[in-house]
Amino acid sequence: MIPRIEWPELELSLSKLAFGCAPVMGRIGKRQALDAMAMAFERGVTHFDVARAYGFGEAERVLGRFVADKRSQVTIATKFGIQPAQLGQAARLLKPAVRVARQLVPALAGAVKKTSGAMLTKGYYSLADAQRSVETSLRELGVDVIDILFVHECAAADELSPELLDFFCRLKQQGKIKTWGVATAAREVGPVSRQLGAVPPVMQCPFESRALAAGFAGRRILHSPISMIGRLRDPSGHLPASVIAWADGEGLRGTALEQRLPILALQAAAAAAPDAVILCSMFQSKNVMNNTAAFQDMDVSRALGFGRACEIAGITAQGV
Ligand SMILES: NC(=O)c1ccc[n+]([C@@H]2O[C@H](COP(=O)([O-])OP(=O)(O)OC[C@H]3O[C@@H](n4cnc5c(N)ncnc54)[C@H](OP(=O)(O)O)[C@@H]3O)[C@@H](O)[C@H]2O)c1
Repeated sequence: MIPRIEWPELELSLSKLAFGCAPVMGRIGKRQALDAMAMAFERGVTHFDVARAYGFGEAERVLGRFVADKRSQVTIATKFGIQPAQLGQAARLLKPAVRVARQLVPALAGAVKKTSGAMLTKGYYSLADAQRSVETSLRELGVDVIDILFVHECAAADELSPELLDFFCRLKQQGKIKTWGVATAAREVGPVSRQLGAVPPVMQCPFESRALAAGFAGRRILHSPISMIGRLRDPSGHLPASVIAWADGEGLRGTALEQRLPILALQAAAAAAPDAVILCSMFQSKNVMNNTAAFQDMDVSRALGFGRACEIAGITAQGV
């Protein structure tokens, strides 16, 4: 089974490996999303991360459908602050066709992702925006309580109001959230905490050494460890010398190394932050199987060795 992370002061028990729902109802349709969630859950993944903005505002409803008969066995984090992209009726009908086109012509994926990203509108952090968003999230998820409510991609420049802190306290008293946090780049956590007037109980940041090193008193969720591999490569796609040297020492070369990289990245994140939850997206069955297996059977010193090799290349220290 997947190891558990216990945060007793927050009354939360989470699976060490968490399931990210960012692609749900965008790149991934409802059926595939529900199948992948079920497969991950069967293998011990019980923490699910979503946001009001994901999937053109439709991802929460899909996750809600999945958790409906297992609410007490799972934890859910959602976020406010980014408005979902609005799709007209015609674009909505075209979504499944775009998904098929992406699969047939992988080169389209980047362009589609860029266009969907550009359709999101950030900066909805006022008290009224937060209130509206949380009520919508509760309704769409079909739950009474959100385990972690995150402020989504907030930055110092957003000048968050301290009245949000009172709002989080009220939500806790009303039993609508268990706790709150900020889901943003590690470098923004300090300035944003000062604006809010409190250290967030949870921070959710990309896996990078800044997130590991930050003197942070709360709990951590580290996301996108697999995407880190893309940042390891030079413009020609080559891996850094320190990673190749480490892999040589492990007898890993060529295709064997390439195939192993996602699992190594996941395990490096898990080993570097033993008390953190590691969050990734995994919708292909083989990825769900490999990732869950990676958390059941981990060579910690090997994982730390890979992490060090990446850091020597200056990559995990790179801001995102
Ligand atoms: N501000 C925030 O809080 C924030 C920001 C970004 C992301 N997130 C969260 O973090 C989650 C993960 O982010 P991400 O998708 O950017 O990064 P990621 O989890 O590092 O990468 C996901 C990609 O890796 C693939 N993959 C998964 N396991 C694999 C394996 N064993 N071998 C090869 N490929 C594998 C997935 O493919 P398939 O899906 O096709 O299987 C997907 O394309 C999001 O869903 C979201 O919940 C939060």
